[in-house]
Parts: sequence; C-alpha cells; structure tokens
Amino acid sequence: MSQGKLTGAAVAEHNSKNSCWVIVHGKAYDVTEFLPEHPGGQKIILKYADTLDKFLDPSKHLGQVDMATVEQEEKAFDPEEEGRLERVKRMPPLAACYNLMDFEAVARQVMKKTAWAYYSSGADDEITMRENHAAFHKIWFRPRILVDVEHIDMSTTMLGTKCDIPFYVTATALGKLGHAEGEVVLTRAARRHNVVQMIPTLASCSFDEIVDAKEGDQVQWLQLYVNKDRAITKKIVEHAEKRGCKGLFITVDAPQLGRREKDMRSKFSDAGSDVQSGDGSVDRSQGAARAISSFIDPALSWKDIPWFKSITRMPIILKGVQCVEDVLRAVEAGVDGVVLSNHGGRQLETAPSGIEVLAEVMPALRERGWDKRIEVFVDGGVRRATDILKALCLGAKGVGIGRPFLYAMSAYGLEGVDRAMQLLKDEMEMNMRLIGATRIEDLNPRLLDTRALLAGHAGVIPSDTLGLGAYDPLEAPRFNEKPKL
Ligand code: LAC
Repeated sequence: MSQGKLTGAAVAEHNSKNSCWVIVHGKAYDVTEFLPEHPGGQKIILKYADTLDKFLDPSKHLGQVDMATVEQEEKAFDPEEEGRLERVKRMPPLAACYNLMDFEAVARQVMKKTAWAYYSSGADDEITMRENHAAFHKIWFRPRILVDVEHIDMSTTMLGTKCDIPFYVTATALGKLGHAEGEVVLTRAARRHNVVQMIPTLASCSFDEIVDAKEGDQVQWLQLYVNKDRAITKKIVEHAEKRGCKGLFITVDAPQLGRREKDMRSKFSDAGSDVQSGDGSVDRSQGAARAISSFIDPALSWKDIPWFKSITRMPIILKGVQCVEDVLRAVEAGVDGVVLSNHGGRQLETAPSGIEVLAEVMPALRERGWDKRIEVFVDGGVRRATDILKALCLGAKGVGIGRPFLYAMSAYGLEGVDRAMQLLKDEMEMNMRLIGATRIEDLNPRLLDTRALLAGHAGVIPSDTLGLGAYDPLEAPRFNEKPKL
C-alpha cells in the first residue's frame, strides 16, 4: 500500500485464472469470477469497464490504486495509425459525398486497418466481389420518352411490408468494428427512410439491442446462421418471431466462410462482439471471419427446410442462392423467397453476380407461372439507383445493400448513412423520370437491353473510375523491416 492505496506491483501479482485483478480508471477490481463468463478476456473487460462498477459485487471492489506506481505500457509508435488519426482530422465534409462510392473512398482512409480489412475483403482474388458491381454495367436502359413523370412514387412492398424505396439494409457482421454504437446506427437510419433492416446473426450489438432500437411500426428481418446445435437455432428463431421480426433469411452460401486474404493478413484481434462461438476457442490468427464462425453448421441441407417451417410462422427466405435450378427447388420446397447473392463476393470465387443470375431466373419462373409464388431479392454490388432499377426491371422485389452503409456509418455515423440513403432516393427519383416510369409497377424487362449481360463474360466492360478509385487492391506479403538475426 502507498498512502492507503494499492500499488501497481500488488495488483500485478494477481495475473492468473485463479486470481485476476484489473485496474480500470485508477481503481482495482477482482474479476476472477467474472472471467469464465467473459471468455473474450481482457479486451472485453475493458470494453465494459464502466459497467464493472455496477455489476461486480462490492466485495470485489479493491479500492484506489496509486497510479504513480503502475508501470505504464509503452505504446509502440505506429506510423500507420498516426497517419490514420491525422487523416480523420482532415476528413471531407459529409456534403462532399455525392454517391455511395465516395463513402467507401473516405472510409478506406479513416477506418482502422483491421476493420477496413474485414469489411472490404472478398474471397481469393476478389473477382466475384468486383464483378458484382461491374455486372450492372453490362445492362443498358431502353428509356421511354414523353411519359408524364411529374409525380414519381418509388414505394413498394417486400414480404408484405411497405417501404419508401425498394432496397433494404442487408445483414453484415461486426458493426462495432466500424462505429462504437454498431448496428443500432443502421436501425435508426432505416427508420428515417422507412426501409427494412435485416439483423445479422453475427452482429456486434445483441439481437435485443437492435430490436430495442427500432421505433413504432419499423420492420426488421433476421438473417440466420444455422448453429450445429439446433436447439440454439430454434431458440434464436423463436425469440426473433416473438420480438416481431417479419422474415427469416437463412444463409445458404456459407457452410464454411471463404478465405478473405486482406482480412487474414490484417491479424484481427478484437471482434468487439459477444457473438456465438462453438467452444470458446476461437482462432484469432485467421482474420475476423474465421474467428467468429466456428459454430456454423456445414451439414445444413434441403432436408432441414421442413423443420424450419415447423418452428416459425415467419416467411422463410433462402439467402445466397446462385443458380436457376436451386431457385426452382426452393419454390418446390415451399419457401417464401430467395436472395440471389454471392455474399458480397466473400464466399465462392467466380460465383456469378446476383444480377446475372436474376436475368436467368425470372424467365424460368415466368415460364412455369411461378413468378408470383416467391419473392426474389438480389444483393451484391448495388451502388447506384440505376443498379436498383435494373434489378427491379428484371423482376426483383428489392435489393439488399450492405457494405456501402457500413462505410457511410464508419466514416460519418448516423448522418452518413442517412445521407447515403437520401442520395439513393434522389438518384432513384431522377432516373425513374429519365426512363419514363412513374411507379415501381411500370418497371419491366422491356426497359432494359441485357444482351451484353446474357452474352456471358466475353463482353468488354466499361470501366467505372469512381469504383476503381475506391477499390483497395490486394497486397503481397510485406518484408520485415530489419533482417532476421
Ligand atoms: C462474413 C460473414 C460473417 O461474410 O457473413 O464475414
């Protein structure tokens, strides 16, 4: 003790599982019993430091520490991080962002390296990831003129929910990597624009926090990663239904998460999340994705669909369908919808873009008279309202947008996501006028020239400079700064 206070050395002695003390804001706490419940360890404790005061039994409050006696950990000078902090101070004003790629370009400069690596990475050479957006450029419009387009109504319904514009916030993991408040920021933005939010299984915020953040009659859906332990899955589904979720989106393109090398290279260490993990022994050397996904069941199959139908009344939608045959099978299995998606290019490399699959799927459904039996959604690469319009003309009910909102949130918080959504609305209104459509019902395949898309992958693709400028190329391994001794 020094002047009635604990010394740093006295606290430091308690550094094992059997007796673990920590210093938070100058006070020592005995967190030995707290540890097993919070296997995330020290990082998690620090994150919830302010709640220690409230939740730890008073007998575990050990008192003030003489901070002069505490050895300060020297922070290594990190030029990359210093550069980032400096760029944060010079960020462009929000009003300088005119489109969704602008948010990506800013986010790339101001996000923490590990967070950027996790959000931005795709599988292998990231060809599918880039193709997702590029594929939209293979579709051209066949606009109609001299239509009275004074009044534009871009509202529609998805799974029975009325939305202001036909996009939804699709599920993306680990929102707190980008913003301290995490997914609830997206909830608030979705509310402002009257669009649906899909709640991710692997959110940083808890499911209940995200549901609690909704207001009034705001609608949310649940994205589900199916746990090997079906009792856990059943509990999650039943709870979501009880809390008012209006759709169950079962992810079917990720029996194992893809290798995203940017993410792996960035040496992820803090998921900032209390996500499910199979056995608590997550491997943090393999990037964020691997660290959080060990519980996902690779044995999930078509045989499980009747079980899902038996445990919920929510509409069931398969998320991540990638070919016509599986869409037809999904109709036969009696599900309510599909999302044509390749998981933002994060799973199977050279899987086709959702929009390309959509162009094949809709004629096959119409041919059978099945196009009203399910709702077809598409995600991946949507950056412009023209992209949304193309998907709708082909027959999609709506499109999912993921990364762009994460980037807007990471760079500018709620106001950023709000602006991103407003920009899409402004673009949408203008482009509906310019193609001569006043309502969503007016959108149809005759407004499109899909010849280049349907010609397969031999066509020449116009390059889009904003997209390319925002794109972060993959890196080769770095050499050590000093020779190995
Ligand atoms: C990912 C998962 C977690 O793509 O959806 O990283």
